[in-house]
Amino acid sequence: MLLKPEDFLPMNIVTELNEWVSMRKKIMNQSIGFIPTMGNLHAGHISLCERSKRDNDITVVSIFVNPTQFNNQNDLKHYPRTLPEDIEKLTHAKVDYLFVPNAEDMYQDNYEIKVTETELSHELEGEHRPGHFNGMLTVVLKLLNLIQAHKAYFGEKDYQQLLLVKKMVLSLFLPTEIMACETIRNEKGLALSSRNSRLNDEQLEMAAHFPALLHSHLTDEEIITQLKNLGFKVDYIVKKWQRRLGAVYLGDVRLIDNIHYI
Ligand code: PAF
Repeated sequence: MLLKPEDFLPMNIVTELNEWVSMRKKIMNQSIGFIPTMGNLHAGHISLCERSKRDNDITVVSIFVNPTQFNNQNDLKHYPRTLPEDIEKLTHAKVDYLFVPNAEDMYQDNYEIKVTETELSHELEGEHRPGHFNGMLTVVLKLLNLIQAHKAYFGEKDYQQLLLVKKMVLSLFLPTEIMACETIRNEKGLALSSRNSRLNDEQLEMAAHFPALLHSHLTDEEIITQLKNLGFKVDYIVKKWQRRLGAVYLGDVRLIDNIHYI
């Protein structure tokens, strides 16, 4: 990406939790939009930033690879960490604040306090990734409390996550409005995801069969059979919430996606 001098307007990068808390107190009478991320930013994240910039006076992005939402230590170890490139992209997108806290500050309680949801969090992703949603909800609650945004932006690719965050915000009377944003896809229809960067060229080509099959008129069972024949390992393909949702593995890379399905 070729950057021009005006792209380097300073973005405030805050790594100390206490520093953020005192900075936040000084932001008054301005609307704040927030995009929580785990970094390795792609066009999907940038589209959330653009939406926030249109809706709000100030846009805040966080990058925190949240250890408590990884049920698989291998996945956590290999999660792509690309902070310098992420800073460049966010600067280019003219984001105002980047918050990059560390795990010690975020989990001063050693994760002894956690958010648990007892229904929705046990199915689909929850069934295949035990504990994932507890970790996700806990860190999102902490981040929402720290950022105190008017609106927070979540992609529909992680549809179950979006439903759970909305449910938590309603149940705990949190003041931030949760904004659902459409999934951004590459030219072959594959949903953009940080995990795509772990696929080789051949796997990237193959991965495009996953959304194509979700869109097909085949039954869920027929899609599972086709995916398996193509070499995918399938966690689930189901219709729910007027959507067809799926989770598959290509090699050791796990992909999730969902499409409208009425
Ligand atoms: O969707 C993600 O990237 C993460 O689950 C989130 C919301 C940033 C919480 O760690």
